Amino acid sequence: MNYKKLLKSKKFKIAVWGTGYIGLSTMVYFSKRKIKCVGYDISKEKIKKINSGVLPLSDLKNWFGFDIKGLVKQNYLRATNNYKDLITKDFLVHFIAIPTEKDGKPYYKPLLDVLSNISKINKNNKNPPLVIVESTLAPKVSDKKIIPFLNKRNLVVGKNILLSIAPRRDWFIEGGKNLENLDRVYGSTDVRSTKVTKDVLSIVCKKLHVASSYKVSEMVKSVENAYRHMDITLANQLSLAFPKDNIREVLKLVGTKWNLETFHPGIGAGGYCIPLSSRYILSQVKNVNKLSLLRETIKTDDSMSKSISNSIARKGLKQIGILGLSYKGDLKVSVLSKVIPLVKSLLKKKLKVRLFDPYFTKKEIYKAVKVKTFNFPKDLKKFDCLIVTVDHKQFKIQKKILEKYLKKCKLIIDHDGAWKKYNLKNNYYLSGNRGWI
Ligand SMILES: NC(=O)c1ccc[n+]([C@@H]2O[C@H](COP(=O)([O-])OP(=O)(O)OC[C@H]3O[C@@H](n4cnc5c(N)ncnc54)[C@H](O)[C@@H]3O)[C@@H](O)[C@H]2O)c1
Repeated sequence: MNYKKLLKSKKFKIAVWGTGYIGLSTMVYFSKRKIKCVGYDISKEKIKKINSGVLPLSDLKNWFGFDIKGLVKQNYLRATNNYKDLITKDFLVHFIAIPTEKDGKPYYKPLLDVLSNISKINKNNKNPPLVIVESTLAPKVSDKKIIPFLNKRNLVVGKNILLSIAPRRDWFIEGGKNLENLDRVYGSTDVRSTKVTKDVLSIVCKKLHVASSYKVSEMVKSVENAYRHMDITLANQLSLAFPKDNIREVLKLVGTKWNLETFHPGIGAGGYCIPLSSRYILSQVKNVNKLSLLRETIKTDDSMSKSISNSIARKGLKQIGILGLSYKGDLKVSVLSKVIPLVKSLLKKKLKVRLFDPYFTKKEIYKAVKVKTFNFPKDLKKFDCLIVTVDHKQFKIQKKILEKYLKKCKLIIDHDGAWKKYNLKNNYYLSGNRGWI
Protein backbone atom coordinates (compact mmCIF):
# COMPACT_ATOMS: atom_id res chain seq x y z
CA MET A 1 0.00 0.00 0.00
CA ASN A 2 1.09 3.55 -0.68
CA TYR A 3 1.57 5.17 2.74
CA LYS A 4 1.17 8.63 1.24
CA LYS A 5 -2.31 7.74 0.05
CA LEU A 6 -3.18 6.10 3.35
CA LEU A 7 -2.12 9.20 5.28
CA LYS A 8 -3.97 11.50 2.92
CA SER A 9 -7.10 9.36 3.28
CA LYS A 10 -7.25 10.73 6.86
CA LYS A 11 -7.86 7.23 8.22
CA PHE A 12 -4.26 7.15 9.41
CA LYS A 13 -2.12 9.52 11.44
CA ILE A 14 1.46 10.42 12.21
CA ALA A 15 2.93 10.03 15.70
CA VAL A 16 5.80 12.30 16.70
CA TRP A 17 7.89 11.42 19.76
CA GLY A 18 9.37 14.60 21.26
CA THR A 19 7.83 17.97 20.41
CA GLY A 20 10.88 20.26 20.55
CA TYR A 21 12.36 22.10 17.58
CA ILE A 22 12.63 19.03 15.40
CA GLY A 23 9.47 17.14 16.43
CA LEU A 24 7.21 20.18 16.47
CA SER A 25 8.41 21.27 13.05
CA THR A 26 7.71 17.78 11.70
CA MET A 27 4.19 17.94 13.11
CA VAL A 28 3.58 21.41 11.77
CA TYR A 29 4.77 20.67 8.24
CA PHE A 30 2.80 17.44 7.89
CA SER A 31 -0.34 18.89 9.45
CA LYS A 32 -0.06 21.82 7.02
CA ARG A 33 -0.44 19.14 4.31
CA LYS A 34 -3.70 18.10 6.01
CA ILE A 35 -2.30 15.01 7.67
CA LYS A 36 -3.24 14.43 11.27
CA CYS A 37 -0.29 14.52 13.63
CA VAL A 38 -0.16 13.75 17.33
CA GLY A 39 2.94 14.54 19.35
CA TYR A 40 3.99 12.93 22.61
CA ASP A 41 6.24 14.73 25.05
CA ILE A 42 7.23 14.35 28.69
CA SER A 43 6.85 18.12 29.13
CA LYS A 44 3.28 18.85 30.20
CA GLU A 45 3.87 22.55 29.64
CA LYS A 46 4.71 22.02 25.97
CA ILE A 47 1.63 19.84 25.46
CA LYS A 48 -0.64 22.42 27.06
CA LYS A 49 0.74 25.16 24.86
CA ILE A 50 0.52 23.17 21.64
CA ASN A 51 -3.07 22.13 22.35
CA SER A 52 -4.04 25.72 22.96
CA GLY A 53 -2.48 26.75 19.64
CA VAL A 54 0.50 28.51 21.21
CA LEU A 55 4.03 27.73 20.06
CA PRO A 56 6.03 26.45 23.05
CA LEU A 57 9.17 27.74 21.31
CA SER A 58 8.27 31.32 20.45
CA ASP A 59 11.30 31.84 18.20
CA LEU A 60 9.83 29.24 15.82
CA LYS A 61 7.05 31.65 14.86
CA ASN A 62 9.32 33.67 12.55
CA TRP A 63 10.78 30.49 11.11
CA PHE A 64 7.39 28.95 10.27
CA GLY A 65 6.03 32.27 9.11
CA PHE A 66 2.51 31.25 10.17
CA ASP A 67 0.50 30.47 13.29
CA ILE A 68 -0.36 26.95 14.48
CA LYS A 69 -3.73 27.96 15.91
CA GLY A 70 -5.65 27.06 12.73
CA LEU A 71 -3.99 23.63 12.50
CA VAL A 72 -4.93 22.86 16.12
CA LYS A 73 -8.48 24.11 15.62
CA GLN A 74 -8.96 21.89 12.57
CA ASN A 75 -7.64 18.96 14.61
CA TYR A 76 -4.60 18.33 12.41
CA LEU A 77 -2.22 19.06 15.26
CA ARG A 78 -2.45 17.73 18.79
CA ALA A 79 -0.14 16.78 21.63
CA THR A 80 -0.42 14.33 24.51
CA ASN A 81 1.54 13.03 27.47
CA ASN A 82 -0.13 9.66 27.35
CA TYR A 83 2.01 7.48 25.13
CA LYS A 84 -0.81 4.95 24.74
CA ASP A 85 -2.60 7.48 22.52
CA LEU A 86 0.14 6.93 19.94
CA ILE A 87 0.38 3.16 19.74
CA THR A 88 -2.99 2.42 18.23
CA LYS A 89 -3.40 0.93 14.75
CA ASP A 90 -4.24 4.21 13.08
CA PHE A 91 -0.69 5.51 13.52
CA LEU A 92 1.10 4.57 10.34
CA VAL A 93 4.28 6.56 10.89
CA HIS A 94 6.32 7.28 14.03
CA PHE A 95 8.86 10.09 13.86
CA ILE A 96 11.43 10.05 16.69
CA ALA A 97 12.74 13.51 17.61
CA ILE A 98 13.94 13.25 21.20
CA PRO A 99 17.34 14.48 22.48
CA THR A 100 20.30 12.16 21.97
CA GLU A 101 22.77 14.18 24.00
CA LYS A 102 23.34 14.93 27.67
CA ASP A 103 26.16 17.04 29.11
CA GLY A 104 27.91 17.14 25.76
CA LYS A 105 27.94 13.37 25.29
CA PRO A 106 25.79 10.92 23.28
CA TYR A 107 22.90 9.78 25.46
CA TYR A 108 20.29 7.21 24.46
CA LYS A 109 17.90 6.77 27.37
CA PRO A 110 15.08 8.86 25.81
CA LEU A 111 15.53 6.96 22.54
CA LEU A 112 15.19 3.60 24.29
CA ASP A 113 12.20 4.86 26.31
CA VAL A 114 10.45 5.85 23.10
CA LEU A 115 11.33 2.55 21.39
CA SER A 116 9.96 0.74 24.41
CA ASN A 117 6.65 2.61 24.00
CA ILE A 118 6.53 2.02 20.25
CA SER A 119 7.24 -1.68 20.73
CA LYS A 120 3.85 -2.04 22.38
CA ILE A 121 2.13 -1.64 18.99
CA ASN A 122 0.08 -4.41 17.48
CA LYS A 123 2.60 -6.79 15.87
CA ASN A 124 0.29 -8.28 13.27
CA ASN A 125 -0.42 -5.23 11.24
CA LYS A 126 -1.32 -5.36 7.54
CA ASN A 127 0.43 -2.02 7.18
CA PRO A 128 3.45 -2.26 9.48
CA PRO A 129 4.20 1.12 11.05
CA LEU A 130 7.19 3.03 9.77
CA VAL A 131 9.65 4.44 12.32
CA ILE A 132 11.71 7.38 11.06
CA VAL A 133 14.52 8.46 13.38
CA GLU A 134 15.13 12.19 12.97
CA SER A 135 17.31 12.58 16.07
CA THR A 136 21.04 12.70 15.50
CA LEU A 137 22.66 9.30 16.05
CA ALA A 138 26.25 8.28 16.44
CA PRO A 139 27.46 5.82 13.80
CA LYS A 140 26.41 2.21 14.53
CA VAL A 141 23.67 3.07 17.03
CA SER A 142 21.00 1.46 14.86
CA ASP A 143 22.90 -1.82 14.76
CA LYS A 144 24.02 -1.75 18.37
CA LYS A 145 20.90 -0.39 20.04
CA ILE A 146 17.79 0.19 17.93
CA ILE A 147 17.48 -3.02 15.92
CA PRO A 148 18.44 -5.41 18.77
CA PHE A 149 16.02 -3.56 21.06
CA LEU A 150 13.16 -4.03 18.61
CA ASN A 151 14.09 -7.65 17.89
CA LYS A 152 13.98 -8.50 21.58
CA ARG A 153 10.38 -7.31 21.57
CA ASN A 154 9.40 -9.46 18.60
CA LEU A 155 9.61 -6.64 16.10
CA VAL A 156 11.52 -7.56 12.96
CA VAL A 157 12.52 -4.71 10.69
CA GLY A 158 11.11 -5.06 7.20
CA LYS A 159 8.38 -7.40 8.49
CA ASN A 160 6.21 -6.11 11.30
CA ILE A 161 7.99 -2.78 11.62
CA LEU A 162 9.70 -0.57 9.05
CA LEU A 163 12.73 1.55 9.89
CA SER A 164 14.60 4.50 8.43
CA ILE A 165 17.21 6.92 9.65
CA ALA A 166 16.62 10.41 8.23
CA PRO A 167 18.64 13.09 10.07
CA ARG A 168 17.66 16.75 9.95
CA ARG A 169 19.58 19.81 8.78
CA ASP A 170 17.20 22.62 9.63
CA TRP A 171 18.55 26.05 10.43
CA PHE A 172 15.96 27.59 12.72
CA ILE A 173 17.23 31.10 12.17
CA GLU A 174 16.66 31.44 8.43
CA GLY A 175 13.07 30.82 7.36
CA GLY A 176 14.00 29.22 4.03
CA LYS A 177 16.21 26.51 5.55
CA ASN A 178 13.35 24.25 6.53
CA LEU A 179 11.88 20.81 6.14
CA GLU A 180 10.40 21.58 2.74
CA ASN A 181 13.41 23.15 1.07
CA LEU A 182 16.50 21.49 2.51
CA ASP A 183 17.97 18.42 0.85
CA ARG A 184 17.03 15.42 3.00
CA VAL A 185 19.05 12.22 3.25
CA TYR A 186 17.41 8.99 4.34
CA GLY A 187 18.41 5.35 4.46
CA SER A 188 16.42 2.28 5.43
CA THR A 189 16.85 -1.27 6.61
CA ASP A 190 15.15 -2.98 3.65
CA VAL A 191 13.45 -2.39 0.30
CA ARG A 192 9.95 -1.94 1.72
CA SER A 193 11.07 0.56 4.35
CA THR A 194 12.93 2.50 1.63
CA LYS A 195 9.87 2.73 -0.60
CA VAL A 196 7.49 3.66 2.20
CA THR A 197 9.86 6.31 3.60
CA LYS A 198 10.04 7.96 0.19
CA ASP A 199 6.20 7.99 0.07
CA VAL A 200 6.03 9.66 3.45
CA LEU A 201 8.91 12.15 3.34
CA SER A 202 8.00 13.31 -0.18
CA ILE A 203 4.74 14.69 1.21
CA VAL A 204 6.80 17.53 2.68
CA CYS A 205 10.44 17.37 1.54
CA LYS A 206 11.11 18.56 -2.01
CA LYS A 207 14.56 17.03 -2.46
CA LEU A 208 15.29 13.56 -1.15
CA HIS A 209 18.56 11.63 -1.39
CA VAL A 210 18.30 7.94 -0.71
CA ALA A 211 21.30 6.20 0.86
CA SER A 212 22.06 2.57 0.07
CA SER A 213 21.43 1.72 3.74
CA TYR A 214 20.47 3.15 7.13
CA LYS A 215 24.12 2.69 8.14
CA VAL A 216 25.11 5.33 5.61
CA SER A 217 22.39 7.90 6.39
CA GLU A 218 23.13 7.45 10.09
CA MET A 219 26.78 8.49 9.54
CA VAL A 220 26.03 11.41 7.21
CA LYS A 221 24.82 13.75 9.94
CA SER A 222 27.88 13.34 12.21
CA VAL A 223 30.35 13.45 9.35
CA GLU A 224 28.95 16.59 7.70
CA ASN A 225 29.06 18.39 11.04
CA ALA A 226 32.50 17.06 11.93
CA TYR A 227 33.78 18.80 8.78
CA ARG A 228 32.33 22.08 10.05
CA HIS A 229 33.74 21.45 13.51
CA MET A 230 37.23 21.07 12.05
CA ASP A 231 36.85 24.16 9.83
CA ILE A 232 35.73 26.36 12.72
CA THR A 233 38.51 25.02 14.91
CA LEU A 234 41.15 25.56 12.25
CA ALA A 235 40.07 29.22 12.22
CA ASN A 236 40.69 29.31 15.97
CA GLN A 237 44.04 27.55 15.73
CA LEU A 238 45.16 30.04 13.07
CA SER A 239 44.12 32.91 15.31
CA LEU A 240 46.04 31.47 18.28
CA ALA A 241 49.11 30.88 16.10
CA PHE A 242 49.02 34.38 14.55
CA PRO A 243 47.60 36.63 17.30
CA LYS A 244 49.26 39.70 15.78
CA ASP A 245 47.58 39.24 12.42
CA ASN A 246 44.07 39.91 11.17
CA ILE A 247 43.12 36.26 10.74
CA ARG A 248 39.43 37.16 10.52
CA GLU A 249 40.14 39.30 7.48
CA VAL A 250 42.41 36.63 6.00
CA LEU A 251 39.64 34.04 6.35
CA LYS A 252 37.04 36.39 4.89
CA LEU A 253 39.17 36.71 1.77
CA VAL A 254 39.95 32.98 1.76
CA GLY A 255 36.18 32.49 1.59
CA THR A 256 36.02 34.34 -1.71
CA LYS A 257 37.59 31.30 -3.39
CA TRP A 258 34.93 29.42 -5.34
CA ASN A 259 35.19 26.16 -3.38
CA LEU A 260 35.66 27.54 0.14
CA GLU A 261 33.45 28.96 2.86
CA THR A 262 34.29 31.70 5.36
CA PHE A 263 34.87 30.68 8.97
CA HIS A 264 35.83 33.07 11.71
CA PRO A 265 37.71 32.61 14.97
CA GLY A 266 35.84 33.05 18.24
CA ILE A 267 34.75 31.36 21.43
CA GLY A 268 34.27 27.96 19.78
CA ALA A 269 31.45 25.88 18.30
CA GLY A 270 28.13 25.57 20.19
CA GLY A 271 24.67 24.09 19.77
CA TYR A 272 23.38 20.54 19.46
CA CYS A 273 25.10 19.56 16.30
CA ILE A 274 28.62 20.82 15.59
CA PRO A 275 30.47 20.26 18.89
CA LEU A 276 28.83 16.87 19.31
CA SER A 277 29.49 15.55 15.84
CA SER A 278 33.15 14.70 16.42
CA ARG A 279 32.26 13.10 19.76
CA TYR A 280 29.51 11.03 18.13
CA ILE A 281 32.01 9.67 15.62
CA LEU A 282 34.77 9.07 18.16
CA SER A 283 32.37 7.30 20.51
CA GLN A 284 32.52 4.41 18.03
CA VAL A 285 36.29 4.39 17.45
CA LYS A 286 38.25 2.64 20.18
CA ASN A 287 41.72 3.06 18.67
CA VAL A 288 42.98 6.40 20.02
CA ASN A 289 45.46 6.70 17.16
CA LYS A 290 42.68 6.95 14.62
CA LEU A 291 40.91 10.16 13.63
CA SER A 292 43.53 12.34 15.33
CA LEU A 293 42.13 15.36 13.42
CA LEU A 294 38.83 15.05 15.28
CA ARG A 295 40.54 14.44 18.62
CA GLU A 296 42.63 17.59 18.17
CA THR A 297 39.53 19.51 17.05
CA ILE A 298 37.71 18.72 20.29
CA LYS A 299 40.79 19.58 22.36
CA THR A 300 41.31 23.01 20.76
CA ASP A 301 37.60 23.82 20.62
CA ASP A 302 37.22 23.07 24.33
CA SER A 303 40.28 25.13 25.25
CA MET A 304 39.18 28.37 23.56
CA SER A 305 37.33 29.65 26.62
CA LYS A 306 40.48 29.19 28.71
CA SER A 307 42.67 30.96 26.15
CA ILE A 308 40.26 33.92 26.01
CA SER A 309 39.95 34.26 29.80
CA ASN A 310 43.73 33.99 30.24
CA SER A 311 44.19 36.79 27.75
CA ILE A 312 41.59 39.00 29.48
CA ALA A 313 43.15 38.37 32.89
CA ARG A 314 46.63 39.17 31.52
CA LYS A 315 45.33 42.52 30.33
CA GLY A 316 44.36 43.32 33.92
CA LEU A 317 40.64 43.65 33.16
CA LYS A 318 38.36 42.88 36.08
CA GLN A 319 34.69 43.62 35.37
CA ILE A 320 33.46 41.48 32.52
CA GLY A 321 30.08 41.89 30.85
CA ILE A 322 28.84 39.20 28.52
CA LEU A 323 26.12 39.79 25.98
CA GLY A 324 24.45 36.57 24.88
CA LEU A 325 23.90 33.11 26.33
CA SER A 326 22.44 31.50 23.20
CA TYR A 327 24.87 29.73 20.95
CA LYS A 328 23.46 31.62 17.95
CA GLY A 329 21.81 34.99 17.42
CA ASP A 330 18.03 35.47 17.68
CA LEU A 331 17.48 32.01 19.08
CA LYS A 332 16.75 30.89 22.62
CA VAL A 333 19.03 27.86 22.68
CA SER A 334 21.89 27.59 25.14
CA VAL A 335 22.58 23.89 24.58
CA LEU A 336 26.35 23.41 24.58
CA SER A 337 26.77 27.16 24.15
CA LYS A 338 30.47 28.00 24.51
CA VAL A 339 29.41 30.95 26.67
CA ILE A 340 28.91 28.49 29.53
CA PRO A 341 32.55 27.32 29.73
CA LEU A 342 33.70 30.87 28.97
CA VAL A 343 31.93 32.24 32.06
CA LYS A 344 33.32 29.34 34.11
CA SER A 345 36.88 30.12 33.00
CA LEU A 346 36.48 33.84 33.70
CA LEU A 347 35.16 33.09 37.18
CA LYS A 348 38.08 30.75 37.79
CA LYS A 349 40.38 33.70 37.09
CA LYS A 350 38.54 35.52 39.90
CA LEU A 351 37.03 38.08 37.49
CA LYS A 352 33.61 39.63 38.12
CA VAL A 353 31.17 38.47 35.46
CA ARG A 354 27.61 39.53 34.58
CA LEU A 355 25.59 38.28 31.63
CA PHE A 356 22.63 39.66 29.71
CA ASP A 357 20.54 37.85 27.11
CA PRO A 358 17.10 39.21 26.18
CA TYR A 359 15.83 35.71 25.43
CA PHE A 360 16.50 34.40 28.95
CA THR A 361 15.08 35.40 32.33
CA LYS A 362 17.46 36.26 35.17
CA LYS A 363 16.56 32.91 36.75
CA GLU A 364 17.41 30.99 33.58
CA ILE A 365 20.68 32.88 33.26
CA TYR A 366 21.66 32.13 36.83
CA LYS A 367 20.77 28.47 36.39
CA ALA A 368 22.93 28.18 33.27
CA VAL A 369 26.04 30.12 34.30
CA LYS A 370 25.68 30.97 38.00
CA VAL A 371 26.11 34.71 37.48
CA LYS A 372 23.69 37.62 37.73
CA THR A 373 22.28 39.50 34.80
CA PHE A 374 22.48 43.29 34.24
CA ASN A 375 20.40 46.07 32.75
CA PHE A 376 21.03 46.58 29.09
CA PRO A 377 22.22 49.08 27.90
CA LYS A 378 22.42 51.20 31.09
CA ASP A 379 24.80 48.90 32.97
CA LEU A 380 27.26 48.57 30.09
CA LYS A 381 29.11 51.47 31.69
CA LYS A 382 30.08 49.25 34.63
CA PHE A 383 32.37 46.99 32.63
CA ASP A 384 35.96 47.34 31.55
CA CYS A 385 35.60 44.38 29.17
CA LEU A 386 32.60 43.33 27.10
CA ILE A 387 32.23 40.15 25.10
CA VAL A 388 29.39 40.19 22.58
CA THR A 389 28.99 36.51 21.88
CA VAL A 390 26.03 36.59 19.45
CA ASP A 391 24.29 39.13 17.24
CA HIS A 392 20.81 39.22 18.80
CA LYS A 393 18.88 42.02 17.12
CA GLN A 394 18.18 43.56 20.56
CA PHE A 395 21.91 44.33 20.91
CA LYS A 396 21.87 46.62 17.88
CA ILE A 397 20.86 49.85 19.57
CA GLN A 398 21.61 53.42 18.45
CA LYS A 399 25.32 54.17 18.08
CA LYS A 400 25.06 57.35 20.18
CA ILE A 401 23.53 55.48 23.12
CA LEU A 402 26.03 52.70 22.84
CA GLU A 403 29.02 55.06 22.76
CA LYS A 404 27.70 56.87 25.81
CA TYR A 405 27.81 53.68 27.85
CA LEU A 406 31.06 52.34 26.44
CA LYS A 407 33.26 55.27 27.36
CA LYS A 408 35.14 53.43 30.11
CA CYS A 409 35.28 50.04 28.43
CA LYS A 410 38.85 49.03 27.59
CA LEU A 411 38.20 45.91 25.53
CA ILE A 412 35.21 44.86 23.42
CA ILE A 413 35.29 41.49 21.72
CA ASP A 414 32.55 41.02 19.14
CA HIS A 415 32.08 37.43 18.02
CA ASP A 416 29.35 37.71 15.39
CA GLY A 417 29.81 41.32 14.35
CA ALA A 418 26.74 42.66 16.22
CA TRP A 419 28.37 46.08 16.61
CA LYS A 420 30.55 46.02 13.50
CA LYS A 421 28.65 48.72 11.63
CA TYR A 422 29.22 51.27 14.41
CA ASN A 423 32.97 51.62 13.72
CA LEU A 424 33.69 51.80 17.45
CA LYS A 425 37.05 53.17 18.64
CA ASN A 426 40.29 51.19 18.85
CA ASN A 427 39.27 49.11 21.89
CA TYR A 428 36.82 47.20 19.66
CA TYR A 429 37.87 43.87 18.14
CA LEU A 430 36.05 41.45 15.93
CA SER A 431 37.16 38.05 17.23
CA GLY A 432 40.08 36.92 15.12
CA ASN A 433 41.42 40.37 14.31
CA ARG A 434 44.81 41.55 15.54
CA GLY A 435 44.88 41.98 19.32
CA TRP A 436 41.60 40.30 20.19
CA ILE A 437 43.39 37.63 22.22
N1 LIG B 1 17.57 21.80 16.97
C1 LIG B 1 18.32 21.60 15.90
O1 LIG B 1 18.77 22.55 15.23
C2 LIG B 1 18.59 20.20 15.39
C3 LIG B 1 19.00 20.04 14.07
C4 LIG B 1 19.24 18.75 13.60
C5 LIG B 1 19.09 17.66 14.45
N2 LIG B 1 18.71 17.86 15.74
C6 LIG B 1 18.57 16.66 16.58
O2 LIG B 1 17.19 16.39 16.80
C7 LIG B 1 16.99 15.84 18.10
C8 LIG B 1 15.99 16.69 18.85
O3 LIG B 1 16.47 18.02 18.91
P1 LIG B 1 15.53 19.25 19.28
O4 LIG B 1 16.29 20.47 18.92
O5 LIG B 1 14.17 19.06 18.74
O6 LIG B 1 15.49 19.08 20.88
P2 LIG B 1 14.50 19.78 21.91
O7 LIG B 1 15.16 19.74 23.21
O8 LIG B 1 14.00 21.08 21.37
O9 LIG B 1 13.26 18.78 21.93
C9 LIG B 1 13.29 17.49 22.42
C10 LIG B 1 11.94 17.20 23.05
O10 LIG B 1 11.93 15.83 23.44
C11 LIG B 1 11.26 15.76 24.69
N3 LIG B 1 11.64 14.50 25.35
C12 LIG B 1 12.73 14.21 26.10
N4 LIG B 1 12.70 12.92 26.49
C13 LIG B 1 11.58 12.39 25.98
C14 LIG B 1 10.99 11.11 26.03
N5 LIG B 1 11.58 10.11 26.68
N6 LIG B 1 9.83 10.94 25.37
C15 LIG B 1 9.23 11.95 24.71
N7 LIG B 1 9.73 13.18 24.63
C16 LIG B 1 10.89 13.40 25.25
C17 LIG B 1 11.67 17.01 25.44
O11 LIG B 1 10.77 17.33 26.47
C18 LIG B 1 11.67 18.03 24.29
O12 LIG B 1 10.42 18.66 24.17
C19 LIG B 1 18.38 15.76 18.73
O13 LIG B 1 18.91 14.50 18.49
C20 LIG B 1 19.17 16.81 17.98
O14 LIG B 1 20.54 16.53 17.96
C21 LIG B 1 18.43 19.10 16.24
